[in-house]
Amino acid sequence: SRYALILAGGSGQRFWPISRDALPKQLLKLFGDKTLLEMTVERLNGVVPKENILILTNKQQEAAVRALLPELPSENIIAEPEKRDTAPAIALGVGWVVARDPSATMMVLPADHLIQNVPEFQKVLLNSAKAAESASSLVTVGIKPTWPCPSYGYVERGKRASILGVSDVAVFEVARFREKPNPDLAEHFISQGNFTWNAGMFIWTIPAIFSELSRHCPALADFVSELRGSKDFNATVARQFAKLPKLSIDYALMERASRVLNVEATFDWDDVGNWTSVGRYLKGDADDNHFNCALSQLDASGNLVFSQTGQHVALLGVQDLIVVSAGDALLVASRSHAENIKKLADQLPKEL
Ligand code: GDD
Ligand code: MG
Repeated sequence: SRYALILAGGSGQRFWPISRDALPKQLLKLFGDKTLLEMTVERLNGVVPKENILILTNKQQEAAVRALLPELPSENIIAEPEKRDTAPAIALGVGWVVARDPSATMMVLPADHLIQNVPEFQKVLLNSAKAAESASSLVTVGIKPTWPCPSYGYVERGKRASILGVSDVAVFEVARFREKPNPDLAEHFISQGNFTWNAGMFIWTIPAIFSELSRHCPALADFVSELRGSKDFNATVARQFAKLPKLSIDYALMERASRVLNVEATFDWDDVGNWTSVGRYLKGDADDNHFNCALSQLDASGNLVFSQTGQHVALLGVQDLIVVSAGDALLVASRSHAENIKKLADQLPKEL
């Protein structure tokens, strides 16, 4: 049977003042009336039954996650005892699935990406599952890179692979996986032409992931075995989780694993990393202002305006600003500084 693990425990202040520690990107309504987390669950309609979807989050965000997803069984939402990054979270998820079906196929999905072409996404996901089952490999999804972004993982493709039962998508062998290269190396990768961005989605069977974890991350494999044999799953998590190495799955496993495949993503994909990327999906006017609220402007251009409460905003003679209003806080920034909002948020008083 097929299971999905949705990773929804990341924090983020890049969307301050809308995002706060307890309200990261995946829990924000940036694109209409649904959060990215809700859209991620909806994208699985018809692919994975609700009772096979596990959401992993943390204590700070748990209540908000439960409120957004009342249709999931309550034991399918788990708050990790503390933040240990994605490798321990994924091991917890593997243990949860193993206890239900030791030969299952598992799809690991980030909760905070924007993907609009659902049929194409589902086609890629289903074919990735078939490839994972047929080749007993760890399957990654490759996004065509558009610039040398240093905050992604890069997958170097080898030969085109022909996998039994998979014909609707292009599958490649993976020569290596390199997480977050420095800008020079990212530039070099892009110029080579055979690198793709890692979408942060992983598809594998339980036997395949368990064998790779045993080889490269024995502490995580032991944790999975302990969860599998445990009579009280939650008690085992509470006892062991904080002792696991704090690492992302990309560094802990993907850079080292040997049997890795890469499936070509044919759907649209946006990691929406800052306010400027959100602007692309909001309505706009002839002067390239983008906004989610009522806007009046005179001689204003290239601005991004977002009001959480839908205020009426007026702009006069300003260019290339980010203006975000969250009720108790207001941000006015230059668009060219969008990437530094996290830095600014780190300096703010704690109650903000
Ligand atoms: N449950 C849980 N627990 N989820 C977590 C945790 C955690 O401790 N930390 C992060 N997450 C969630 C985030 O909410 C997100 O949905 C996903 O796991 C990935 O974590 P990020 O922190 O956003 O990773 P990243 O963006 O730096 O890098 C990953 O994604 C890139 C694509 O967006 C890597 O897989 C890169 O290789 C990849 O290119
Ligand atoms: Mg991310």
